[in-house]
Amino acid sequence: MREIPLFKLIERLETAAALDPVIRRVKGVVDGVIRPQWLRDTLHGVWVGHPLHPIAVQVPVGAWMSAGILDLLPRTHVGARTLVGVGVAAAIPTALAGYTDWARLHDRQLRVGIVHSAATLVATGLYAASFLQRAKGRHGSGKALSFTGLAVVSAAAFLGGHLSYRQAAGVNHAVDTLERFPRGWHPIGSLADLDEGRLMRRSVGELLLVVYRRGEHVMALSDACSHLSGPLSEGRLVVGDEPCVECPWHASTFSLISGDVVRGPATANQPRFDTRVVAGTVEVHLPEA
Ligand code: FES
Repeated sequence: MREIPLFKLIERLETAAALDPVIRRVKGVVDGVIRPQWLRDTLHGVWVGHPLHPIAVQVPVGAWMSAGILDLLPRTHVGARTLVGVGVAAAIPTALAGYTDWARLHDRQLRVGIVHSAATLVATGLYAASFLQRAKGRHGSGKALSFTGLAVVSAAAFLGGHLSYRQAAGVNHAVDTLERFPRGWHPIGSLADLDEGRLMRRSVGELLLVVYRRGEHVMALSDACSHLSGPLSEGRLVVGDEPCVECPWHASTFSLISGDVVRGPATANQPRFDTRVVAGTVEVHLPEA
């Protein structure tokens, strides 16, 4: 399929290392401001089960689109101004959720994301100016600023789409396991070869698992982290109320017992395998396969 020229432009953006110093500074601010883990997890959307940002975006963009429609109709000044104001107010928590996710991405994604966020900030500024103009009764300039903001936020949305659908930011990177893992029970090696209290890597065909042995019991999760495919078997074992694995890339933490996300940035649980020991050999089975 022929690539449309716009994508060539965005691919150039992905490799624009000139943006990296700015990215480092913005990341520093984000990490400094959004510091408590509970706040990060809330903004990532761990409690929702997928990223909060795309849900939150509905409010400002929906309000601004609706304001645009009202602006084309007669005697709708109050309604349009209210919607513009609602959009500006909602843009703040939406941006916080977006920046929290963004700060835990790969370099190419960070570059597209910083331009996406800059465009969104410009659009929000235009809408804020529009609101002030409308409040002063200058409806003509208020509408002009709104429609300019709509064009800018649409460009930002296009980049956001690229980030999600081309660059796979925010998607569940462990979901393929459910489709690719063969049904039934499969051997992954002898129990005696598994060191107790250590994370180890095993495989079934090309699919990798992180395995943890406690006594005669073995726990196993898919090795590729649901956030961005980090190798969990190279991560850190966290032994608290229940044993967990912390991803070496961005510190998402998963229960080794259930596969549930204990802390983000991951929002999707890790595929968990049933295990059994047959004549000294450990076997795994993926219930959802
Ligand atoms: S790849 Fe990002 S937390 Fe695992």
